[in-house]
Amino acid sequence: MKTVLVTGCSSGFGLEIGRFFLAHGWKVIATMRMPRQDLLPISDHLKIVALDVTSPESIRAAVETAGPVDVLVNNAGIGWLNAVEGTPMEIARDVFETNTLGTIAMTQAVLPQMRERQEGVIVNVTSSVTLKSLPLLSVYTASKAAVNAFTESVALELEPFNVRVRIVLPGRAPETRFGDTARSRIQQQGGFPEAYSSVVADVFASWEQQSATALTQPVDVVEAVWRAATDPSCPLRIPAGVDAEALAV
Ligand SMILES: NC(=O)c1ccc[n+]([C@@H]2O[C@H](COP(=O)([O-])OP(=O)(O)OC[C@H]3O[C@@H](n4cnc5c(N)ncnc54)[C@H](OP(=O)(O)O)[C@@H]3O)[C@@H](O)[C@H]2O)c1
Repeated sequence: MKTVLVTGCSSGFGLEIGRFFLAHGWKVIATMRMPRQDLLPISDHLKIVALDVTSPESIRAAVETAGPVDVLVNNAGIGWLNAVEGTPMEIARDVFETNTLGTIAMTQAVLPQMRERQEGVIVNVTSSVTLKSLPLLSVYTASKAAVNAFTESVALELEPFNVRVRIVLPGRAPETRFGDTARSRIQQQGGFPEAYSSVVADVFASWEQQSATALTQPVDVVEAVWRAATDPSCPLRIPAGVDAEALAV
């Protein structure tokens, strides 16, 4: 039986990825900042483990508790939408600390066992915003583009050890609580700078015009992660969702 460790399982894509792998006979290490036992079906194959990807001590303890891991899914992430002028450096650091450095730190923590076994897969969840730039997403996009670049280099370096590394690029998925969490963080920081109000209005208007059928569903991301984990012939970059697929062509 194979084991997958997923970061950020308390909601959204991470929760659905955990549920799917469990239903398909995998052992699942579902990691969460605030562990909850009531989110996933009760199973002998499920272990809920505390993990904050920005904390070295939390990473060390989680990886030790997890034991051997065949597939690591670096899914945990935070969003941020604002002009660069409206982005406090503290926020920029938080976004990179979670999205970029969290992914690097988890890769470092799980890699030695995979290299020694000469087997393993690492799947990094980034975003379709790295395929087509949008205004107000400079810091978030930079944090995810850095993961793309990191993954592409590390994929080459790990080939001799039979460790595969893949990128899943979801499109816009308003169904998860990602947008709400980002929105409340923006409100807490005082909103958007006045000078950018027409840019902000244009961005929101373009999202309102986006048809519901042109969005990404959590199931699209689950299927892309499953493919990355189980199909050695799949490409390095896997767009997830109709909007992401349209940008990737
Ligand atoms: N939804 C979209 O439109 C979209 C599009 C493209 C890419 N993505 C990416 O997809 C991934 C999942 O997002 P989602 O849409 O499923 O959003 P979500 O529902 O907000 O889930 C994000 C998860 O990351 C966790 N997390 C945040 N900071 C963490 C930390 N320091 N350590 C460990 N876990 C942490 C959250 O845990 P808490 O409950 O503790 O906050 C939550 O479980 C993210 O990497 C995001 O950037 C999302």
